[in-house]
Amino acid sequence: MAIDTLYQEIQTEIAKYPDRRSAILAALRLAQTKYRWLSPEAFEEVARCIDLPVAQCQAVASFYDMYFLAPVGRHVVEVCTNVSCCLVGAPDVVAAFERELGCALGETSTDGAVTLRAVECLGGCGWAPVVSVDHRYLEHFQPGDAAQVVADLRAAPAEEH
Ligand code: FES
Repeated sequence: MAIDTLYQEIQTEIAKYPDRRSAILAALRLAQTKYRWLSPEAFEEVARCIDLPVAQCQAVASFYDMYFLAPVGRHVVEVCTNVSCCLVGAPDVVAAFERELGCALGETSTDGAVTLRAVECLGGCGWAPVVSVDHRYLEHFQPGDAAQVVADLRAAPAEEH
């Protein structure tokens, strides 16, 4: 996505609202898609388009799990570690991914393939534990499922975030 394209896409979002600042979530999403994470350049571009201070854009982004404030791998695995998922084994799921990836929660595997994150409730409490793989939800996830997921991701092309 060229810079002008991102600018135009953000302008399209801004046009949907009576106040241009209301488009900030969509603008952050578009910028993250372009840069793969919300880099300083991404924040500057969003701030310029929305006409808000960079710090305010950063404050909004830091509230939501779906925005990446640091570089991520080609794929992102997010384990819900909120109450319902924890009660039925989310910590064991996290441990299984850490073993398979050779990295800790919040880190990216050394081959750059997968970033492992913990997130708050994904809205699937009735199907816990829930794991999001590149934004696709896997329900009733078991620790033994982690190895196949990691193998598939290592062989897959990068996903758009
Ligand atoms: S607590 Fe995990 S999906 Fe709600």
